Amino acid sequence: METVSDGAPATAPSDYVAQGSFDDMGLAEPVRLAVAERGYVTPTPVQSATFRPIRDGKDVIVRSKTGTGKTAAFAIPILERIPDGRRRPSALVMTPTRELAIQVAEEIAALAKHRDLTVVTVYGGASMGEQLEKLEAGAEIVVGTPGRIYDHIRRKTLRLEETMVCCLDEADEMLNMGFFEEVTRILDHLPDDAQQLLFSATVPADIEQIIRQYLTEPEVIMLSGDEYKVENIHNVIYPAVDAYPKPRNLLYMIEMEEPETAIVFCNTRSDTSLVAAVLNRNGYDAELLNGDLPQKERERVMAKVKKGEVRFMVATDIAARGIDISDLSHVINYSLPEDPAIFLHRVGRTGRIGKKGTSLSIVSGAEIHTLTALQKKYGVVFEERSLPTPEEARKRWTERHVAELKEGMSASIFEAFIPLAQELRGRSDGDFLVAFALKYFFTHHRMERAQDREKAEHKREKHEKHEGGHEARPAREARPAEGRGRERGERGGRRERGGRGDRGERDFRGDRGERGERGERDRGDRPPRGDRGKRAHAATARSRDRRQRPFGS
Ligand SMILES: Nc1ncnc2c1ncn2[C@@H]1O[C@H](COP(=O)(O)OP(=O)(O)OP(=O)(O)O)[C@@H](O)[C@H]1O
Ligand SMILES: [Mg+2]
Repeated sequence: METVSDGAPATAPSDYVAQGSFDDMGLAEPVRLAVAERGYVTPTPVQSATFRPIRDGKDVIVRSKTGTGKTAAFAIPILERIPDGRRRPSALVMTPTRELAIQVAEEIAALAKHRDLTVVTVYGGASMGEQLEKLEAGAEIVVGTPGRIYDHIRRKTLRLEETMVCCLDEADEMLNMGFFEEVTRILDHLPDDAQQLLFSATVPADIEQIIRQYLTEPEVIMLSGDEYKVENIHNVIYPAVDAYPKPRNLLYMIEMEEPETAIVFCNTRSDTSLVAAVLNRNGYDAELLNGDLPQKERERVMAKVKKGEVRFMVATDIAARGIDISDLSHVINYSLPEDPAIFLHRVGRTGRIGKKGTSLSIVSGAEIHTLTALQKKYGVVFEERSLPTPEEARKRWTERHVAELKEGMSASIFEAFIPLAQELRGRSDGDFLVAFALKYFFTHHRMERAQDREKAEHKREKHEKHEGGHEARPAREARPAEGRGRERGERGGRRERGGRGDRGERDFRGDRGERGERGERDRGDRPPRGDRGKRAHAATARSRDRRQRPFGS
């Protein structure tokens, strides 16, 4: 498994380029065709290493780093195993969050597009109707979150007696305290000889013990030896400066680093609301994703982010695991997670399939133990940088805005307004008037730029369709890692937190939303039922409408 990058000599083994090819796998034509149409040219190492054991019906425990193509690694052999047109649940895939269930189902459906198979996505917060229809029609592949899957089992709308294979994606999370009971209750409904697949980027040593009774002589496939860190993710830490409020630390760090796009991870929902509001108020385009939002809103935000239409997504750990956003340049940790493994999943949202990415973390004194664990246990290397002084930050902020003004100026004739500018300078309300004009300019200029980007993207897609002659995605080489050195749901506000159970076992809590239908729950900092979601929307809307204040927080 040697890698070759840009004609350079082969170096270390890669997590992204396998020696084999899809042709070596002897895939049936419909799947081979779908793989090619998805733009996958060569299999990744995890796809090569797990194909045969899974296709041959073995139980597997697989560890492979974030962004190395684990989804297709279980999807392709699963598809090779299930016959067409069986019209009953034949494969069950469970994920910890709804967003991940949707994404995994999309990938499986794309790979199954030339097969006579139906994929149904079963998750909470969405209407039962479509799920029921597909289940009744006999969908062969069921992808979902444990809460809603179990609801269907209870209602007898999902029968697993003839299911051949079950996959736990993010297996360590699925077997964590918060999920364990529900997941194993579901596993109890599978036939004894059902094949079990466990996949994650972080696999604890005792995982086999935890679910031993469900496994039969599992093959343990740990890629990259003891290595956890992703070489092509550059990890940067900024020691927090307690002299300013934490949101200001974030603004200063963003001012220094100018990330193109980022997920900003917060440890609590209340922090996500605060940070999203602060970013919007300061002129940054930011969307909020947490378990308080209605499911439709969660899906809207996710779709926008995946299309690259939002610069910052401020999220709890519901976005930490599995979510695949192509070309996300940065991951920001507003706070470090307590569990170092979650750090690896969070930062793994960037640097996928061999691309480069950067993680930026604000680290305060109390978080040093997470940092030490990451360095010692997982071998993560950090570069330390310092936040600018307020003067430096203001200077950078001013220069950035002047540059943007100049860029806008170049395409315009405005000299007729120079006398007005001179007049305004002498007026007592001059600063207010200029501030309004600037706000107007920056809002419109950014809107125009977003529209230009959209048009360009539209044009590119049209061109690609034309060139390709069909819907195939452009070829996506599994790229070698180059150069520089790389997760659980969510919590309420810090003060409301009380021990591990209250972590909401993370999306888990979001997903418990689906259990709300069964009348259970609800902990943490959620507003009263009728008000849920509205509050977050209102905060974002309000903040968008406010004046842009330089570093106001
Ligand atoms: N053989 C391949 N060639 C090129 N791209 C691929 C290949 N296989 C998968 N990909 C793409 O790589 C990206 C990452 O894949 P995937 O989400 O399955 O990673 P993962 O290993 O499950 O990561 P995580 O641990 O974060 O869940 C996706 O955009 C996927 O479409
Ligand atoms: Mg994954």
